[in-house]
Amino acid sequence: MTEKATLTYNGQSIELPIIEGTLGQKGIDISKLRASTGLITYDPGFVNTGSCASSITYLDGGKGQLLYRGIPIEQIAEKSNFIETSYLIIYGHLPTKDELDDFTYHITHHSMVHESIKNLYDGFPNNPHPMAVCSAVVGSLATFYENDLGVRDTRQIEITIHRLLAKLPTIAAYSYKKSIGLPLPYPNNSLSYTENFLNMMFSTPCEEYEIDPIAAKALDLLLILHADHEQNCSTSTVRLVGSSMCNLFASVSAGIYALWGPLHGGANQAVVEMLQMIHEDGGSVEKFVEKARNPEDPFRLMGFGHRVYKNFDPRSRLVKSLAHEILEKLNIQSPLFDIALKLEEIALKDQYFIDKKLYPNVDFYSGLIYMALKIPVNMFTVMFAIGRLPGWIAQWKELQEDKGFKIGRPHQIYTGETQKDYVPIEQR
Ligand code: SDX
Repeated sequence: MTEKATLTYNGQSIELPIIEGTLGQKGIDISKLRASTGLITYDPGFVNTGSCASSITYLDGGKGQLLYRGIPIEQIAEKSNFIETSYLIIYGHLPTKDELDDFTYHITHHSMVHESIKNLYDGFPNNPHPMAVCSAVVGSLATFYENDLGVRDTRQIEITIHRLLAKLPTIAAYSYKKSIGLPLPYPNNSLSYTENFLNMMFSTPCEEYEIDPIAAKALDLLLILHADHEQNCSTSTVRLVGSSMCNLFASVSAGIYALWGPLHGGANQAVVEMLQMIHEDGGSVEKFVEKARNPEDPFRLMGFGHRVYKNFDPRSRLVKSLAHEILEKLNIQSPLFDIALKLEEIALKDQYFIDKKLYPNVDFYSGLIYMALKIPVNMFTVMFAIGRLPGWIAQWKELQEDKGFKIGRPHQIYTGETQKDYVPIEQR
């Protein structure tokens, strides 16, 4: 028996069905609201609105729970790797050995980009932000594979998935190498996904580059922790662009731009810049917590707060312990890490943060690890994009396969001028 909600307005009552998810989430299905009442809902920022039904990722903001296809993030972080996690998120099940070998083979053997793509990097001004470069170059892939852009063709979608997962690290490493005037390296098929990325980022033709297995493992874990996160801003962007039946390259390019914002994926860069500012200001953490608390002050503690997690972000706990482990193993003294620990300690006891349910999110510690791996600050959000790519792909694919597929086209409440006539310029 489907539960119902009753809406009464203007002497008229209608019943709206309640939709229930597999883990007990409930929502009012308003798909018939406008047709039966002429009313629309109004919900800026979609704080109360579900945009879709999805079976990929589940968050419980109260419990600090995150499941990828039902498996807790803590187990995946401990037992899996990024390529296997990507397969799980995209195809909905843990791969058999054959499936994983086949998936890995294809990703490894699509990691080179068309030689002409290198010319794109010559066209950018000096030291452009790598998020702008990566989004532009990923979007340009659609020009190199014009025969494989079908959004209903399983084979074309499959090879596009392989190309995107394989080429984004190459595109990202190229944006860094170009910015420091070093030659653009080729991928090395004998290396793992993260070893290959580190090698492209830091090797030079002049000498052997020794890949630190600790760094490669830490990076793999960070990518796992960023792999998907239900209907966040950038994923919703990928879905909306994909809902026009736009190809996956263009949809992901739009997602990269959305992720760039400092309130979203750009926060990991903003956190480290904030910690550096506090450090240079003398390290008084209390002063900045006070600023964050002051409604008159636009300053926010970057890396704190979340739309869904109102208790703790499970990823932040895993990233924090990884940061501790990496700094210790690489024997790095990080004043910024000490400031971060102090900031977290003070903020978690501060009534304002308790009342607003503001806790460290995934971006609060991740930047410190990227710094320890010598990844430049302006590349931090690119690392987030490389991690989130399987999630964007999975969500776009789920949308295209949705039997209830519809183009996304929200309504609005108009608050502009009532109708009036055009005034000729001589009478203005
Ligand atoms: C990510 O959606 C996802 O899942 C995103 C993500 C993912 O994996 O895809 O988890 C990744 O984007 C993490 C968030 C990274 N962004 C930041 O760290 C930037 C700082 N945080 C915020 O700006 C904010 O917390 C958001 C954007 C994360 C959430 O914004 P909401 O849900 O719209 O909440 P809000 O801005 O309305 O804040 C609620 C209140 C406000 O006060 P009032 O208007 O009620 O008086 O809390 C305050 C805010 O002023 N507040 C903060 C704060 N964050 C919110 N005050 C001080 N410092 C902060 N960081």
